[in-house]
Amino acid sequence: MGRAGTMTKGVYRPSNLERVILMDWGMKNRLSRIIRPKTGRSLILPIDHGYFMGPTKGLEDPWKAVESLLSYADGLMLTRGALRSSIDSGIDTPIVLRVSGGSSILSKDLSRETITTSIFEAVRCNASALALSIFVGSAYEHETLSNLAELVDDAEEYGIPVLAVTAVGRDLDKRDARYLALCCRIAAELGARFVKTYYCEGFQKVVEGCPVPVLIAGGPRMDTEFDVLQTTFDALQEGAVGVVMGRNIWQNDHAVAMIRAVRSVIHEDATAEEAHEMYNQLKLE
Ligand code: R5P
Repeated sequence: MGRAGTMTKGVYRPSNLERVILMDWGMKNRLSRIIRPKTGRSLILPIDHGYFMGPTKGLEDPWKAVESLLSYADGLMLTRGALRSSIDSGIDTPIVLRVSGGSSILSKDLSRETITTSIFEAVRCNASALALSIFVGSAYEHETLSNLAELVDDAEEYGIPVLAVTAVGRDLDKRDARYLALCCRIAAELGARFVKTYYCEGFQKVVEGCPVPVLIAGGPRMDTEFDVLQTTFDALQEGAVGVVMGRNIWQNDHAVAMIRAVRSVIHEDATAEEAHEMYNQLKLE
C-alpha cells in the first residue's frame, strides 16, 4: 500500500493507507455535515441541558423550542430521550447525541458521569456525532477521561466522530486559558474529533494547543444580544470553528432573529455590529 496519495488533474487522491488512517469516508461525511466544508465552521444548537438540570426555562417543550430554529443549525445536540420523545424524525439537521450523564444538579459532584447510551443506540438514532463531558482536575477526572477513551474506541469502529465537552461543574472559576488548553489537548489526544470548551481571555492559546477543531459553549444568558455576537466574533477570530449555543438563542424572545444573527457571524463573516443590525431588523418581522 503506497504511503502518499497522488495528484490527478489537480485533485489530490489519498492513498489507501491515508484513507484508513486519516479519516474514513463515513467519518468525514458525518463531520462535514456538522462543520460545513464551505466555511469550515459550525453552529450547533444544544438542548441537552435537561440531562442533569431537569426542566430548563425555554426547553419545557423541546420541539416547540427548536422547530423554527433547525433550518439555521448545523447540528442539534440532545439526549436519546429528548430525541425520541420530542423530535420529528423527518428533520434534516445532523444529530449530536449526548451520551454522558449520571449526575444531577442535586448531586455533590457533577463530574461523576458515565457513558449513558450504547453505540448501537447511537446508530439507531442516526447520530452524526456523539457528545461526552470530561471533567479534568475533578474528583472523577479519571473516570470521565476513561469514558472518553472507551467511547472513541466504539465510535471510531462505526465512523462516528466524538465531541468532547470540557466541563467544570460548579467550579466556574477554572475557566482560564491554561486550564482549558489542558482540557482540550487531553480530549484531542484521547481521540475526540472535535472539542467544545468555554471562551476565555487568551483563547487563541487554547486553540493553538489543540490539534482538532474547537467550538465554544454559549453559557448562561449574556447581558445583551450584542455581547453574544461579539463573543462569537472574537472566538472565531481567535481560531474557534463555531459555537454550541443554546440558552442565548432559545431563551431569547426573538430566537429566530438571534440564531440568524449568530449564523451570519459564523458563516457569512458578519461583524458583531452587522449581525446586531440584522437581529434588530429581523425581530421586527
Ligand atoms: C450543558 O450541559 C450542555 O452541554 C450545553 O449543551 C452547553 O452548556 C451549551 O449550551 P449553552 O449555550 O446553553 O451553555
